[in-house]
Amino acid sequence: MTTNPLTVSTADARSAAADALIIGVTEGPDGPVPAHGSEDIDAALGGTLAATLAALGATGKQDELTKIASAGAVAAPLIVAVGLGKTDQGGERGRLESLRRAAGSAVRALTGGKTASIALSLPARDEAETEAVALGALLGRYRFTRYRSATANGSPVNGGTVNGGAVSGAVNGAPDLLVLSSVGAAAGRAQVLADAMTEVRDLVNTSPADLYPETFAAEAQRIAVAAGLEIEVLDHVALAAGGYGGLTGVGQGSDHPPRLVRLAYRHPAATKTVVFAGKGITFDSGGLSLKPPKSMEAMKSDMGGAAAVLGALQAIAALGPAVNVVGYLAMAENMPGGHAQRPSDVITIFGGKTVEVLNTDAEGRLVLADVLARSAQDAPDLLVDVATLTGAQLVALGPRVSGVMGSDDEVAAAIAEAARQAGEQAWPMPLPPELRKGLDSAVADIANVAGERFGGMLVAGLFLKEFVPDGVRWAHVDIAGPAFHEGEPYGYTPKGGTGAAVRMLVQVATDVADGRL
Ligand code: BES
Ligand code: MN
Ligand code: ZN
Repeated sequence: MTTNPLTVSTADARSAAADALIIGVTEGPDGPVPAHGSEDIDAALGGTLAATLAALGATGKQDELTKIASAGAVAAPLIVAVGLGKTDQGGERGRLESLRRAAGSAVRALTGGKTASIALSLPARDEAETEAVALGALLGRYRFTRYRSATANGSPVNGGTVNGGAVSGAVNGAPDLLVLSSVGAAAGRAQVLADAMTEVRDLVNTSPADLYPETFAAEAQRIAVAAGLEIEVLDHVALAAGGYGGLTGVGQGSDHPPRLVRLAYRHPAATKTVVFAGKGITFDSGGLSLKPPKSMEAMKSDMGGAAAVLGALQAIAALGPAVNVVGYLAMAENMPGGHAQRPSDVITIFGGKTVEVLNTDAEGRLVLADVLARSAQDAPDLLVDVATLTGAQLVALGPRVSGVMGSDDEVAAAIAEAARQAGEQAWPMPLPPELRKGLDSAVADIANVAGERFGGMLVAGLFLKEFVPDGVRWAHVDIAGPAFHEGEPYGYTPKGGTGAAVRMLVQVATDVADGRL
């Protein structure tokens, strides 16, 4: 996945021997204002850059692209000015996100065609800005080509991976990237995050005919070995014998049996252990509580939480923070086969609590319940689960903002804050205790759905809370919307798998290592 890594240099933008040179332009009160990084280009153009941009209709609006032929004035034949929006909006975080998005938009627009090399001369005056430009560029270069056949007109050629083989094919024919930075900071962290998010995007985008618990676990195995992570895989026999009634129940309607993967990263100087748990439903048909066809179309993304946990562990292993991190990937395919669990079945979750399954489409909470209960064995100082758990998350917060709930409001706020610090959109949500009674079951300890439809994201969080080991600080992150982008690409976000929650989880691990969380 790291076919052609990005390079950082303090070289002069004028001499950058690239097919295209990206510069920034901000939205000034009286028109477009060329941004830091474009000074040398402006000089080479005889100080005409601002006037040229204005004449071409550029406004500096975020992500707007304006192309200028350099006509030999600089080494690159094409100059692409990308909008950075208004300066001084959103503070430090807003500025960094603006850089990531601008770099992403510009690189994305230049990827997939004839451009073989791109230099970016956007504002990169310190390490944080340099990382933002590098990350945006790397993520903007993403392409998922696994299922594209070779054609005569130059379309990407299929990466040639086989059914169940390595998931790959993102950067076929991808342009080389050069980030020009006044500090020449290394882009190592950006590269690590981009590699992990690329991995997650590939996994999410992979057809569920190819990615099911067995192949997903094999992919986790491959990544764990490459990253130097400990790995343990429980198959369906071990899960049944071990009392994992959630994974067993959800997986039993499918010809592809469930798996539980446990990954571990250890640091010799660690004093704390963080456990991450991800929902890994490789396809969610709803089971016997079958979804309508339209609602099923995006359900290959229902393993986005588990993929994010896997990607985060991979990145954490590369970055090396002084903390122990355990990652659980709860994998099952939710299908309505002849052995499928029935609405009204009672199952026993790991640890002994019973659940009346009134709706088989509320399956994510069942597989997560097993894992939350199991995590007691790791004695976590902090437990975070990530899941594409409810359509109600989209209703409450829209498609791009994750909902964060927790064992108390402080931990929910702290995890949402860590996500935003890492460049992701997330917002703390409450777990109102009065909603818990809706989950009372006539026959079991708890039902998996409430009769009332209101506050569905919170009800799901309250269900999970029942399985969190006593006294453990816990947060639940619902990424139902953010994991999968259905609209047109924007910034560094493509259609399909986004890589949501990877940066957040990495931030959480480093914050715990540094004593901030
Ligand atoms: N995987 C879905 C949630 C989902 C919906 C993710 C839309 C991404 C986009 C989950 O398993 C589900 O089906 N949830 C139900 C819960 C309901 C039955 C209580 C839902 O949200 O409708
Ligand atoms: Mn479901
Ligand atoms: Zn689901």
